Amino acid sequence: MRKTDNLIGESEAFLTVLDQTSRLAPLDRPILIIGERGTGKELIAQRLHYLSRRWDQPLVSLNCAALSEGVIDSELFGHEAGSFTGAKGRHQGRFERAENGSLFLDELATAPMGVQEKLLRVIEYGEYERVGGSKTCQANVRLICATNENLPQLAAEGKFRSDLLDRLAFDIIHLPPLRERQEDILPLAEYYAVKMCRELNFSFFAGFSQQAQQQLQTYPWPGNIRELKNVTERSVFRHSLENEPVNTIIFDPFTPPWQQEKDNESSNKNHTEPSSSTQELATSNGNGNGNGMWELPIDFRQWQQDQEVAILQQALEQAQYNQRKAADLLSLSYHQLRGLLRKYQLVGND
Ligand SMILES: Nc1ncnc2c1ncn2[C@@H]1O[C@H](COP(=O)(O)OP(=O)(O)OP(=O)(O)O)[C@@H](O)[C@H]1O
Ligand SMILES: [Mg+2]
Repeated sequence: MRKTDNLIGESEAFLTVLDQTSRLAPLDRPILIIGERGTGKELIAQRLHYLSRRWDQPLVSLNCAALSEGVIDSELFGHEAGSFTGAKGRHQGRFERAENGSLFLDELATAPMGVQEKLLRVIEYGEYERVGGSKTCQANVRLICATNENLPQLAAEGKFRSDLLDRLAFDIIHLPPLRERQEDILPLAEYYAVKMCRELNFSFFAGFSQQAQQQLQTYPWPGNIRELKNVTERSVFRHSLENEPVNTIIFDPFTPPWQQEKDNESSNKNHTEPSSSTQELATSNGNGNGNGMWELPIDFRQWQQDQEVAILQQALEQAQYNQRKAADLLSLSYHQLRGLLRKYQLVGND
């Protein structure tokens, strides 16, 4: 783990998280970080460690999803010589290696029940046994856990220990997905673009064109910051014209180039007439009383979403559920349409 990674973001939601992280860091309590994939859980875990009093002690991490049930136990708690087939000599567990420091457990929801039970005991009493050993070991380790699962639901279904969840839930850091922090999209994209330009030995980064900025901002970013980083780097790399702004955002490298061009053309169309579609939306959907007025108050966001869902459904029907045709009808790129369908969970209906 590097501690030099910069955290970019000035949105309210992100600043709140940073603030919460700083406040929690010095407390010697287990912390749970919840967030979708690619939202920066690992970076926040690092921040918790480096802002704590344990900053000059080890930060050790383990991804619970990467290991099978038997292995995870001995990886965490170590094992004694000959405790199972193939185990030669004593093996130091991550708890031992993290002594006096922090242990970051990623994808905690996948930890087997037996391991969860041992974790609870370490948190409560600072005690555990190595696999195949009977001696009780002492641990002075701060646990930082991360997940993108709904742990209370898993607990209700008996798939996660409720007592461990209670113990971890002293305070929870919820990392907002990128779509909840729109303002951070362009700063992040620029940050990664500049880095990529440096890597390519460009003398400067010429920026994103209007069209590119719009594409970045309307995309729903299911893979969050990790996806944004990859998309930005790829787009800058493919662009290769040092002096001109990046105009084409390549969201999906698996789309063949001929399709990419078509997608771009349609989103170009969308950009040159940005207001016409919104205009149409407003006029084609009645406003209730026929005199050009709405009955207020309304829930604006809900109204906006309803409009979007309605027109998406109409376009899908009209295109006989061919999503590329539906995208064309709305002057959206295929990916923009897919993003919206996912956002409103209309994908399953086709
Ligand atoms: N605020 C941020 N500023 C700059 N880069 C960020 C920020 N948040 C995350 N990143 C970058 O995004 C990528 C994903 O972050 P990270 O690995 O911490 O996410 P994660 O939530 O652990 O994802 P996963 O659930 O897939 O493991 C990393 O390259 C990280 O450096
Ligand atoms: Mg991670």
